[in-house]
Amino acid sequence: MKVTVVGAGNVGATCADVLAQKEVCNEVILVDIKEGLSEGKALDIFQKSPINLYDTRTIGSTNDYTLTKDSDVVVITSGLPRKPGMSRDDLIGTNARIVESVTQNIVKYSPDSIIIIVSNPLDVMTYQAHLTSNFDRNRVMGMAGILDTARYRAFIADELNISTKDIQAVLLGGHGDTMVPLPRYTTVAGIPVTELINKNKLNEIIERTKFGGGELVKLMGTSAWYAPGAAAAQMVESIIKNQKRIFPVCVKLEGEYNIDDCYLGVPVILGSNGIDKVIELDLNSEETTLLQQSREHVKEVMSVLENL
Ligand code: NAI
Ligand code: 2OP
Repeated sequence: MKVTVVGAGNVGATCADVLAQKEVCNEVILVDIKEGLSEGKALDIFQKSPINLYDTRTIGSTNDYTLTKDSDVVVITSGLPRKPGMSRDDLIGTNARIVESVTQNIVKYSPDSIIIIVSNPLDVMTYQAHLTSNFDRNRVMGMAGILDTARYRAFIADELNISTKDIQAVLLGGHGDTMVPLPRYTTVAGIPVTELINKNKLNEIIERTKFGGGELVKLMGTSAWYAPGAAAAQMVESIIKNQKRIFPVCVKLEGEYNIDDCYLGVPVILGSNGIDKVIELDLNSEETTLLQQSREHVKEVMSVLENL
């Protein structure tokens, strides 16, 4: 099995490293436009294999897509990250052109691949990849929900002073301030979180989660990469190994949740065909309103893309 990761920056290199370390596939091709960057990082990850004992081979390529030929899964992380004071949406002009040109190469060399977008603004860059590739919706998706729920789960575990392993949660909507964490569907080892954390504290955790990306940008001057890279690798693993895991993933909705033609995060089953199934939750009126608000925001940014 072969996986290509485009963009050998912070998120792309981390994703390649996790894929190799977990032996998710035989080969990872890391592509970047910066001369030597991907070759250097791929070589560094390969040279770690005698220490950490894995067989996945990492190979770098400066914009030569022939090396990516017949990839099973492609992760696109190329593009600008945000700087303090910027929103994800501010990146649209530059990143749309990058995602478009990268996707054209992917379609040319790996026409049967499954594409996972990481570049921001996430929901709209996934739409861009769909427009360029014309792949069916099961083969074009975006990574955000695993990261956003991971932040939410980490904050809950921290509040309760327990292991993060025991927190299960789901989250809907766009990858931005309008994301919709769902306390009603959040459990701690099977116990509803609402029985363990009071409403005010839970609201604080939800607000921190919504701005979790910005918290890290403020601290580091650029956006996060360890959790985002690992999250993208987790999606690749579920696809390559046909694990059929359930994750919140950005996908084109075609009537689910009464939403048509918008890319939004919802729970899906991920297997060897990509998105096997979109899971529809029975939302209450407050949750439905929040999801609709998130949809409106993503639709606005989609129309910016359409008018570029
Ligand atoms: P980075 O700046 O470290 O890496 C980006 C890489 O893309 C650079 O090495 C650059 O040379 C490369 N690149 C630019 N144009 C290219 C092209 N045409 N072909 C190939 N490579 C190209 O940025 P970082 O931190 O890795 O973030 C990457 C993207 O992922 C950003 O847009 C960021 O906002 C987004 N992101 C999304 C997350 C999510 O949850 N969906 C989480 C974290 C980051
Ligand atoms: C994040 O949430 C910036 O989307 C990126 O960390």
